[in-house]
Amino acid sequence: CKVHKICVLPGDGIGPEIMEVATKALSVAGGKEGETFEYKQCLIGGAAIDATGKPLPDETLEVAKQSNAVLLAAIGGYKWDTLPSAQRPERGLLAIRAGLNAFANLRPAIVPRQLADSSPLKRELVEGVDILIVRELVGGIYFGQPRGFGTNEKGERIGYNTDVYSEPEVERIARVAFEAARKRGKRLCSVEKSNVLEVSQLWKEVVIRVGADYPDVELSHMYIDNAAMQLLRNPKYFDVIVTGNIFGDILSDEASMLAGSLGLLPSASISGSGPGIYEPVHGSAPDIAGKDMANPLAMVLSAAMMCRYDLAIPKVADRLEGAVNAVLDAGLRTADIYKAGTPNTRLVKCSEMGAELMKHL
Ligand code: NAD
Ligand code: IPM
Ligand code: MN
Repeated sequence: CKVHKICVLPGDGIGPEIMEVATKALSVAGGKEGETFEYKQCLIGGAAIDATGKPLPDETLEVAKQSNAVLLAAIGGYKWDTLPSAQRPERGLLAIRAGLNAFANLRPAIVPRQLADSSPLKRELVEGVDILIVRELVGGIYFGQPRGFGTNEKGERIGYNTDVYSEPEVERIARVAFEAARKRGKRLCSVEKSNVLEVSQLWKEVVIRVGADYPDVELSHMYIDNAAMQLLRNPKYFDVIVTGNIFGDILSDEASMLAGSLGLLPSASISGSGPGIYEPVHGSAPDIAGKDMANPLAMVLSAAMMCRYDLAIPKVADRLEGAVNAVLDAGLRTADIYKAGTPNTRLVKCSEMGAELMKHL
């Protein structure tokens, strides 16, 4: 029995709604296993901009560093969409990832058996899909310099960013991916655009070199455009995918539809030392914020990943995941899930999904 210090970042939009469900579920599940959580709620994103003028106040990063783990819901919204990029809510998210050196973003895309008919793809394509996307999170075009606005030689305005990776940056993410592949299906697909981009040529070279240390893992290479297509044509081809920041961002949203909703995918953003950030793949869903319509399951499953990875309390994770399974078994579906409300399912609000979850913890 231990007190786990959790930095809680509800953020914006649906963030507070799903965070409430997740922290309650975590406390109940933990209680059953004799584990206690101390939540320190801090500001990030638009909420932090409104209160302090900064998307990541120093105090939030300090509390995060002093915690055992960070639980983050989502940031962003229409209200802040016209701010200069350095002052946007999204910068707060990038800054906390960089501040904790959370370079490895693990995004499992698993199709729960109850949802094999909840995908726009055919059951036979998605049934049994179990993919782990390993996305590099603190480098690439999101962070590369130079970036900004300027003028070209014709006097026209331009905007530019730089996609850049160093060898050590590629090597460390490749090692995370090979280690993960070794523990599961032993197949790793590296996704890049080395037919066009130098940054990808370096990526591929380094991945091949690191692969020499993992002869038991079958390594393949795929261009991002083909990978985006294969993910729909034959998703079961993939076991572990390793890719850069922006390609991983896009592929993970795409992969969510194999399971029928973006509202189901959790993630872990980790450095291997120090607290990790546990955050759903989805955003703040401003279109449904405040309507009690959000799917809290990605947030709850992110809390489960936190219990497994940072807190080393797998029994609490099992309870949370078991409860998610149970509500899906019972046919409960929030509106975001494809074909929610069809026979044998019941359309529920966020709060109702939360209340039902508690019964199964
Ligand atoms: P989004 O993921 O917020 O929403 C995309 C669509 O999916 C919307 O229709 C939304 O209603 C739906 N959706 C997403 N999560 C859901 C959930 N849990 N339950 C039910 N429906 C859900 O992406 P967007 O609309 O492109 O971006 C909105 C804002 O969120 C932007 O400001 C963006 O920058 C931000 N964002 C933040 C994060 C994050 O905090 N990690 C991630 C992605 C986007
Ligand atoms: C995500 C989000 C973020 C990203 C944005 C909001 C900065 O889309 O976590 O997937 O691109 O990393
Ligand atoms: Mn994204």
